Amino acid sequence: MSKCLTSWKDALIAARKNGNFWATIAQHHPRCRQALSAESGGALEGIVSLTPIGEPRQKITVASLREKKVHREPITCLTAYDYATARLVDEAAIDVILVGDSLAQTMLGYENTLTVTVDEMLHHTRAVRRGVKHAFLIADMPFGSFHVTADEALRNAARFVKEGGAEAVKMEGGEKRADLIRKVIDAEIPVAGHIGLTPQSVNVMGGYKVQGKSLQAIEQLMRDAVALDRAGVACLYLEGIPREVAAMITAEVSTPTIGIGAGPDCDGQVLVIHDILNLTFGPPAKFVRRYGDAAALISDAVQAFRTDVLSRQYPSDEESYHLSKDTQHALEDVLERKQGLRR
Ligand code: KIV
Repeated sequence: MSKCLTSWKDALIAARKNGNFWATIAQHHPRCRQALSAESGGALEGIVSLTPIGEPRQKITVASLREKKVHREPITCLTAYDYATARLVDEAAIDVILVGDSLAQTMLGYENTLTVTVDEMLHHTRAVRRGVKHAFLIADMPFGSFHVTADEALRNAARFVKEGGAEAVKMEGGEKRADLIRKVIDAEIPVAGHIGLTPQSVNVMGGYKVQGKSLQAIEQLMRDAVALDRAGVACLYLEGIPREVAAMITAEVSTPTIGIGAGPDCDGQVLVIHDILNLTFGPPAKFVRRYGDAAALISDAVQAFRTDVLSRQYPSDEESYHLSKDTQHALEDVLERKQGLRR
């Protein structure tokens, strides 16, 4: 076994010496070895196109999420619903990408998340899968896909892994879903739990209201969290609950908690990408922070295009294809001959 060289410089010198550049780099350098290992699932083409500077990026797994909790390293998570966004989010080194059923509203314009189907979720999950290399990919199980029978829930969960390429599925609900979640995990499918304000229960909750405000509700939330932790969830989403309650849950469970509207003491934070980019056509919730204005960017670009077309400023000659000089002359000859015949 050859010596593991620790820098790109060393690997380049060795490669120059033996003449077989990429084979030597791949053999000697830890970054390439990691990319080629079964664990990372990487391919040589994937690594050679990267600029060889900085730390190698690790593939995020259930185990690395746990590690982050142990080392108190914040976990970052964003939703993504399409290839281009997923690629940008992944390349920005976000740890977890969630194909949330919030796509019902953000992508499909439905009023709430109750109508979105497994097939619609799968369509978006596949697109996201194609854009993600390093992040841990979670797909939401939509309303109705795990509420009827355990067999159906297992079949649907397996579809997200097999057909969608998800590495885990997310299921809303606490204590009462723990047995079902255990069955899905027994089928080798990691599950993300989701408690607190669970949008699939909007009709039972009577609206999108902060949960866990009374002592009784706090006790139930703690029971929910502990039941899912014991069931073995890969992580636990805490949505719309008081900061103090989220902090208690985070301290109590060994699974990493990822909060949305749950304060800063969770192990990680998630936001809906349309919220942070101002693409939601409405006032944001209290916990949303806007990091960009994609609505303004898109509107300005679209209006500028329209103005240019109406004023014939677009396309310019430089933005047009041209005939070669020879073909152009030949064409002129043909046209002249045709005109001569008509006279
Ligand atoms: O669907 C979604 O986007 C979610 C997150 C808000 C946690 O469930």
